Amino acid sequence: MKYDVTVIGSGPGGYVAAIRCAQLGLKTAIIERYNTLGGTCLNVGCIPSKALLDSSEHFHNAKEKFELHGIGITGLKVNLPQMVKRKNDVVEQTTKGIDFLMKKNKIDVFMGHGSFVSAHKISIAKADGTKQEIETDKTIIATGSKPIVPEAFNYDKKRIITSTEALNLEAVPKRMVIIGGGVIGLELGSVYARLGTEVEVVEFLDRIIATMDGDCSKELQRALKGLGMKFHLKHKVNTVKATKKGVTVEVQKRDSDSTFNLEADYCLVAIGRRPYTDNLGLENIGIQKDEKGRISVDNHLQTNVPGIYAIGDVVQGAMLAHKAEDEGVFVAETIAGQQPHIDYNLIPGVVYTWPEVASVGQTEEQLKEAGVPYKTGKFPMKALGRARASTDTEGMVKILAHRDTDEILGVHMVCARAADLIADAVTLMEFRASAEDCARMSHAHPTYAEAIREAALAATGDRALHI
Ligand code: FAD
Ligand code: NAI
Repeated sequence: MKYDVTVIGSGPGGYVAAIRCAQLGLKTAIIERYNTLGGTCLNVGCIPSKALLDSSEHFHNAKEKFELHGIGITGLKVNLPQMVKRKNDVVEQTTKGIDFLMKKNKIDVFMGHGSFVSAHKISIAKADGTKQEIETDKTIIATGSKPIVPEAFNYDKKRIITSTEALNLEAVPKRMVIIGGGVIGLELGSVYARLGTEVEVVEFLDRIIATMDGDCSKELQRALKGLGMKFHLKHKVNTVKATKKGVTVEVQKRDSDSTFNLEADYCLVAIGRRPYTDNLGLENIGIQKDEKGRISVDNHLQTNVPGIYAIGDVVQGAMLAHKAEDEGVFVAETIAGQQPHIDYNLIPGVVYTWPEVASVGQTEEQLKEAGVPYKTGKFPMKALGRARASTDTEGMVKILAHRDTDEILGVHMVCARAADLIADAVTLMEFRASAEDCARMSHAHPTYAEAIREAALAATGDRALHI
């Protein structure tokens, strides 16, 4: 069998690349080592975590907010097995959708572990022990990432877990320690905190979601503290040990020798993910990796071996599904002879806590460091009628614009529906809008989007209308 393009890995990078290749008339194959298509994102990442976030949010609202809205409930309780079942149903529907898309686009699917025999020959090791080889002109590596778990954390998948296991717990834990105050720790921490777990987060740096704008870290930490989550910032975990009934986590203050132990039912390790290239046969064809184990690529996402490309979590850049998708389209179009473009500065980042956090462009810290002259416009959600109507008054929208040209350089928000609102900011920045442009656009009332306009008004001078 011979293909124009073979994609290894069927996550959002891989399956999207395959679809775009097929749309462009290329004979395309895709190889996946798991039983279902969709990769981390659909099976154990974005989709299942958002399903549990939604379920737990409904419970939280019923418990904490319904009474205020005049809705009385008695006998409210959590049925975690049903929440997990619904989540699994959502995953199944979504991964089946990818099967359908592969058929629709006449993409040949091979289930098994792919590895390079040569630059144009790929071996597929199937679950039944058999092997098959296919020939290919071009290859796109989209093999994704796996959680980082240091040996001293004694990962046993039972009590000492990663996000994958945390999506499938059978009962609500009483206590959970989370190592890492990044995206996974805070999203899954929110799920369990809402369901009644005492959650403690140990974070090495001096703030949570440290790659985002500092104001977002502050606002989110305040909201999560309100949910009952505890934070040990500037602390690191030395060891994690399973006990008879749970775990003991040894924590050390970052700038001293003093240590203390935390006891819990579970320890969730969420300290980042590593690129996954195990048994891919990269050494057979001399594909180079960088110091972090990521496949090295040039501006066209081509490796050092001509005709072999790599995209998504396995290469440099944000480990985000939409970044992987954009790169999938980019490489397919490059192979087809087009000249696509990705603006990495305009890839938004979202944390699906409540309130949500969303961000695009430069943070205030980055602008300061780069010496770019800027001005800031901020608008608090408590001043927004729409937010008051739904009791979602936590958070703010912040716009950073160039001091002299007024061009919007970054938009950062912590508020209800921020994940969807950030698309407006991406559009504004894609078309290089000024804060004034945004301030003069009509925004429907009452909406959350009005907060963006108010922040833009604040950035253009002291012109916000509702503060
Ligand atoms: P992956 O999705 O990891 O897919 C790689 C695929 O390749 C896998 O299916 C793997 O089995 C397969 N594979 C690997 N090696 C081989 C081989 N040799 N042969 C055959 N197949 C192979 N991102 C967001 O943007 N939004 C979110 O809300 C979000 N939530 C997340 C929540 C969690 C809990 C986690 C863990 C991640 C989340 N992410 C989110 C990150 C997102 O899942 C990843 O950025 C995205 O899946 C990367 O896509 P990818 O195609 O590069 O790789
Ligand atoms: P992360 O990089 O977001 O956060 C890891 C955190 O752990 C960092 O703040 C780091 O300082 C801290 N840390 C590292 N070692 C530590 C130690 N020994 N002790 C204490 N703290 C330590 O990584 P995370 O949360 O595991 O997520 C992995 C990837 O998955 C991210 O890159 C993210 O982009 C992606 N993801 C995206 C989501 C989204 O877009 N909503 C949701 C979930 C994951």
